[in-house]
Amino acid sequence: MGRETASVVDHYTRNNLMDRIRSALSAAGHDPDKPTIETLSELDHLHGGGFATTEVQVELAEIPRGSHVLDAGCGIGGPSRYLAGAHGCQVEGIDLTPEYVDIAGQLNDKVGLGESISLTVGSVTELPYEDERFDVVLCQNVTMNVEDKKTMFREALRVLKPGGAYTFSHLAEGPNGSPIYPLPWARTPETSFLETPETILQTLAAAGFTGIEDRASQARSKPGGGPQPGTIGAAPAMGDDMPMRTGNSAKSIQEGRLVSMMVVATRPM
Ligand SMILES: C[S@@+](CC[C@H](N)C(=O)[O-])C[C@H]1O[C@@H](n2cnc3c(N)ncnc32)[C@H](O)[C@@H]1O
Repeated sequence: MGRETASVVDHYTRNNLMDRIRSALSAAGHDPDKPTIETLSELDHLHGGGFATTEVQVELAEIPRGSHVLDAGCGIGGPSRYLAGAHGCQVEGIDLTPEYVDIAGQLNDKVGLGESISLTVGSVTELPYEDERFDVVLCQNVTMNVEDKKTMFREALRVLKPGGAYTFSHLAEGPNGSPIYPLPWARTPETSFLETPETILQTLAAAGFTGIEDRASQARSKPGGGPQPGTIGAAPAMGDDMPMRTGNSAKSIQEGRLVSMMVVATRPM
């Protein structure tokens, strides 16, 4: 593992994560011994807007029911469980952070989805899958931690079937200067690899994708597409200072230092 990826793993590793999740579920009035996809969805979608954003992204990317999906950078598995549980998808998740993959597997078993979701520790820049394996590659708020986006996009294209869909959410570099750190995905700029939306879309096209669209403005206009008040949020999985880091992200977007993207693209036939 390179120095950069070791720092990314270090950023996300919490230690005793299952205890933190159980305490958070209890504090919210849920039974930690009998979690459901719904109760977990209050804390296991590790991106802005949480579960509501996943719902919107699945809809905007038109992920077909029952499709074979790669959740690239799956975190603790909330989006994977939603796709398997509510959309009948067969899901494979891959993530760089071993603790997250371990917890994702335990949670999948607890909600009875161990058979529908398989998991691997690894990088989105070196996918351990054969060519043309998946109908869809879903990737939510991972790209900011990946310096080599060219390789990441080429790998996504390689593992997609012809006609398959790639969708990723991302926070890109805005026109008004550096974002305010610490951010949800990085405490310092050393593990934050931001490029302008134009560069991201050009890199995607150069990797071979077509039908490239940024549907972020459609996502924002959807009811329920923003942060959900009253839910637990990502602090158990991502750190007690998450409200401050999420606030920095929101302020950076407001000030034009970050630009929110929700991209869909197709592997040509
Ligand atoms: C903000 S979390 C999002 C997790 C998940 N996609 C979600 O939305 O719930 C970012 C995730 O990307 C993973 N990650 C970062 N760089 C990666 C890489 N090169 N390959 C695989 N996973 C990576 C981290 O370990 C972390 O789980």
